[in-house]
Amino acid sequence: MTSLPDAGNGKVTVPDILSRKSLLAVGSADTPRRITCIAAYDYPTARLLDEAGVDILLVGDSLGIIVLGYESTLPVTIEEMLHHTRAVRRGAQRALVTADMPFGSYHVDLGEALRNAVRFVKEAGAEAVKVEGGERRIELIARLVEIEIPVMGHIGLTPQSLNALGGYRVQGKTPATAEQLLRDARAVEAAGAFAVVLEAMPRELAADITRELSIPTIGIGAGPDCDGQVLVLHDMLGLTFRPQPKFARRYADLGKEISRAAQEFCADVRSGRFPSDEESYHARLPLQDHVLTRKPN
Ligand code: KIV
Repeated sequence: MTSLPDAGNGKVTVPDILSRKSLLAVGSADTPRRITCIAAYDYPTARLLDEAGVDILLVGDSLGIIVLGYESTLPVTIEEMLHHTRAVRRGAQRALVTADMPFGSYHVDLGEALRNAVRFVKEAGAEAVKVEGGERRIELIARLVEIEIPVMGHIGLTPQSLNALGGYRVQGKTPATAEQLLRDARAVEAAGAFAVVLEAMPRELAADITRELSIPTIGIGAGPDCDGQVLVLHDMLGLTFRPQPKFARRYADLGKEISRAAQEFCADVRSGRFPSDEESYHARLPLQDHVLTRKPN
């Protein structure tokens, strides 16, 4: 069986992602239609992930921590997100490109939020945007959907709420907070989102939300019962400097490889082993003669 969508030329679209929900049964052993999503930020990785068959490329505002070296996602600007979304867009043929709206770009004024979302579509080629928050975002999500911008919701641990939450902690561990997350999930769905990210919550709660909703859930630190999974590419590849959360399975250790390659390069340059004669350009004969016979000034 394949995890590629059936539609047309294989391009993953918002309706394809929505249709994955009905093809899944929670707890069923038949899982090949589960949605795959990876947060990526540039052209080469977008191209590789797209060609590998990843369904959704999320230009996450984790960009700020992972690639730009900020302490949190809070300083990330719209211009930074647009710049990286354009790069990912250029690398993606098949995957659905979804861009995170950064902190401050949708929090103050509804009109401004809509205009900012339009920029992601018009100026960067995003096919959908993601906003964090549940019940608080009902009006925003509904208006975005009304102006034809598909929205991915994001509830649970929402990193843009860092200061309000007091840290990056698993959410929904008490009956009251679990109930609130269920309400948030229903709100995001009712407002018209086509999918919702469930971040850092008990597996049982994520399974419950997944059963309850008619839109797909995409989990990160939310257990295996979601309709799809998302990871940050640099976590998967060992390219981060922060403590690895337990859900972030490492599929490669490219950090080590990069260090090894850089050390080897330095040693080769310093010892004169790089570049070799084969790695050098050579002059044609007349120029060679000229160079060899030229008198020093
Ligand atoms: O910013 C991001 O990368 C995200 C995902 C981890 C869901 O929001």
